[in-house]
Amino acid sequence: MAISALAEGNSFDRYISEIRAVWGDGKDPNLPFKVKSLMEKMLASTSPDDPWMAQLISEGKPSRELYRAPDHGFIQMGHVHKQGHGNLPHDHGPCWVVYGSYSGLTEITLYRRTDDGKELGRATLEKKALQQLSPGVVYPYLPGDIHSTHAVEGPAMVFRFLSYDLEKIERYRYNMEQGTVSPV
Ligand SMILES: [Fe+2]
Repeated sequence: MAISALAEGNSFDRYISEIRAVWGDGKDPNLPFKVKSLMEKMLASTSPDDPWMAQLISEGKPSRELYRAPDHGFIQMGHVHKQGHGNLPHDHGPCWVVYGSYSGLTEITLYRRTDDGKELGRATLEKKALQQLSPGVVYPYLPGDIHSTHAVEGPAMVFRFLSYDLEKIERYRYNMEQGTVSPV
């Protein structure tokens, strides 16, 4: 069940309608930045006591699909990560994503690939940036951006907007120690 069915006209519903209103054909290169602004507004205008947010907080689920656009294909996920939760560097293939923090502190590391990509299954990375997602902070990640996440202070509630269903596209996960890359 979409969480938006639980209440009419709350900040989450408004956020989704605003995205739908700017989506167009989904190809505008500024869309990730438009979604970033709308997510910032949604985070800033939501109280922990708002029923939809209070429910997410009390359930504390590591991953939950909050909305899926039946026509456009974008998806809004909600995550509550325990302190220490993290993942290996990965990309989102041809998709872009927007990560925003509501509570806790999540660090996102960005990487650059240092090999030529010609040897199948091999990849070397170096770190190029570290971003701190404290409450209210939102960053877009564009197609091909390699990144990893780490919940430094938990519970870390993160909103993750996906331009399309990541289960339906080809994308990769990287192991820095072993110098390998494999499909997710
Ligand atoms: Fe990611």
